[in-house]
Amino acid sequence: MSIASASPQTCTLIENVTAATMTNADLGLIEEATIFVQDGFIAWVGPRDALPANLRQAFLGSEAAGKAHRIDGHGMLATPALTDCHTHLVWAGNRAEEFRQRLHGASYQEIAEQGGGILSTVRATRAASEEELFRQSFPRAVALMQQGVAHIEIKSGYGLSLEDELKQLRVARRIGEVLPIKVSTTLLAAHALPPEYQGRSDEYIDYVVRDILPAAANEGLVDAVDVFCENIGFTRQQTDRVFRAAQQLALPVKLHAEQLSDQDGAALVASYQGLSADHLEYLSDKGIRAMADAGTVAVLLPGAFYFLRETKLPPIDALREAGVPIAVATDANPGSSPIIQLPLMMHFACSFFRMTPEEAWLGVTTHAARALGDSEQGMLKEGQRGDIALWNLRRPEEICYTFGVNPLRALLIAGQEVGE
Ligand code: NIG
Ligand code: FE
Repeated sequence: MSIASASPQTCTLIENVTAATMTNADLGLIEEATIFVQDGFIAWVGPRDALPANLRQAFLGSEAAGKAHRIDGHGMLATPALTDCHTHLVWAGNRAEEFRQRLHGASYQEIAEQGGGILSTVRATRAASEEELFRQSFPRAVALMQQGVAHIEIKSGYGLSLEDELKQLRVARRIGEVLPIKVSTTLLAAHALPPEYQGRSDEYIDYVVRDILPAAANEGLVDAVDVFCENIGFTRQQTDRVFRAAQQLALPVKLHAEQLSDQDGAALVASYQGLSADHLEYLSDKGIRAMADAGTVAVLLPGAFYFLRETKLPPIDALREAGVPIAVATDANPGSSPIIQLPLMMHFACSFFRMTPEEAWLGVTTHAARALGDSEQGMLKEGQRGDIALWNLRRPEEICYTFGVNPLRALLIAGQEVGE
């Protein structure tokens, strides 16, 4: 008796789907496809009836042992589960009052000068206990999961002190432990200058590189390091200091770059072989070339573009021509993108940025995974984790075209159907 038949593996067979495998620019569509997941990993994807005999045998053996699951897709669309590669999902309170003030005529700048903006979320986040922060943040992660998201990046940056940054990152990790999804954490201690460091931004950067970063890394809370490089954030030089410190700890870097002005941040992050440069409305040709050479992903955030009523578009055509991989994410945060909806961002990417539906799909699957250091992931192909979304859709472009009804039919993580 072989080992396999003595101990049948857990198998999931998904039949009768249109598979968008994300393995090429046309999304690698396979009509009437079958997907076979064995012990949590995709063992085979291909046309119906072409499943190799040994795998069919393994499935039948597992079925006999009650360890197999067969899903009839009824012609639905199957894709890799989605990745939201840029969020600030852990925060306390909200900024609805600020939104109201803006509609009564106050500018974002005036609100910030009166101590509002990011700093108002910092106050609320500092005041919340870890438990309370979890209680407020957890439903947002659940909402994303219910839309087919199985991998979320979560940044800190509303604590801005050692204790409060660690608190935010611990909550992010806990979300990844409680839910079956994967959470990648990013330290964004250099997000804004905390009030106690007013006028002393270099000293705050000292504090970030000497205290916050090593402590957070030591606790295993940091998968990547980010900075808000902007005239209302930190300078290029200060960003470079944070990146050098990250590099010494062998941590990958990414950057909030060129959101409101051109700071030459994209070229800087690319010089560190950074995972991604994000926002990019003011990205220059020099930045594009540097990103293309380094393989740094361009993460576009149409939710912030929309909510801040921006008019300057990121240079999509030039990014496309240079072959820079483009990802799309929610930027979920209380100030510039209070929108917890990744499929809506695909619609926004198409309607505001004129990205094609194919680009939007790659942007929330394989390119998004790459922006989190999971290169070659976010595809339906042999060897990948069985993170699969089944959609009540016939064609991939339908998700970009309409919104309002959740098209997710089922989410499988490591081949197991999950629900919340
Ligand atoms: O990604 N750009 C900086 N940070 C956030 C906004 C944070 C806030 O307003 O609370 C962003 O847009
Ligand atoms: Fe952001």
